[in-house]
Amino acid sequence: MAKTTLTAFAKRKAAGEKLVMITAGDAPGAAAAFDAGIDLILVGDSLGMTMLGYDSTLPVTMEEMLHHTRAVRRGAPEAFVVFDMPFMSYQVSDEEALRNAGRAMKETGADAVKLECAGEVVPLIRRMTAAGIPVMAHLGLLPQHIRAVGAYKVVGRSADEAERLLAEAKAVEEAGAFSLVLECVPAELAAEVTRELSIPTIGIGSGAGCSGQVQVMNDTLGVFEHTPKHAKRYAEIGRITREALAAYAAEVREGSFPAPENSFK
Ligand code: KIV
Repeated sequence: MAKTTLTAFAKRKAAGEKLVMITAGDAPGAAAAFDAGIDLILVGDSLGMTMLGYDSTLPVTMEEMLHHTRAVRRGAPEAFVVFDMPFMSYQVSDEEALRNAGRAMKETGADAVKLECAGEVVPLIRRMTAAGIPVMAHLGLLPQHIRAVGAYKVVGRSADEAERLLAEAKAVEEAGAFSLVLECVPAELAAEVTRELSIPTIGIGSGAGCSGQVQVMNDTLGVFEHTPKHAKRYAEIGRITREALAAYAAEVREGSFPAPENSFK
């Protein structure tokens, strides 16, 4: 399958074709996503919680993101890969942000970076775009703001919030972002933002009116007991893994594994 290009994204939106993005953090996951025909792979900083055992995305470092994105690239050399800029890798200064985004592109082979955006990030999107770094913006629920906001909650329910979000969406498009993730935005508002922009919106918990959808792979695969409201379990990998490991442990203990066919003469 050919890599989806930046121009193809806008064309796909104009043609009413949905875009599909999934997170991945390792080579086998990336290979599976590519083989399944997924359009974009996001190495999301949610891997801090879904793969590294942190209780939020805040501890995730540049080095961890670089490490996981290199693995994703090795697993899916032809995929369109988006590098999620971790907390404090782009907020200190535009210079540091550009240097870190440059590292992401040079050292991992990522095709684009993603920034969680409040309004003040707009000039940075303009500078990154001018430097040749494609930017995916992210509005709505911003997990990197969890300590400031206090809870993971829907954004845009009040008229003020909705107006601000629409204005920020227009501003990130104008600054050069090639797409926009909308996380936990009321479905009607996400559909309106999608209609107002020419770049594609990619929703998570933001209804079917977005130009595409993104999900966290381990939620989709049913790795954990808890499934967020915005996710759907397409498999029960957590249960299957536990059952398989319990069967392995039982066979070792009773002496039926390894069998003669698993041994060398
Ligand atoms: O980190 C992540 O996985 C994300 C998605 C939820 C969009 O930012």
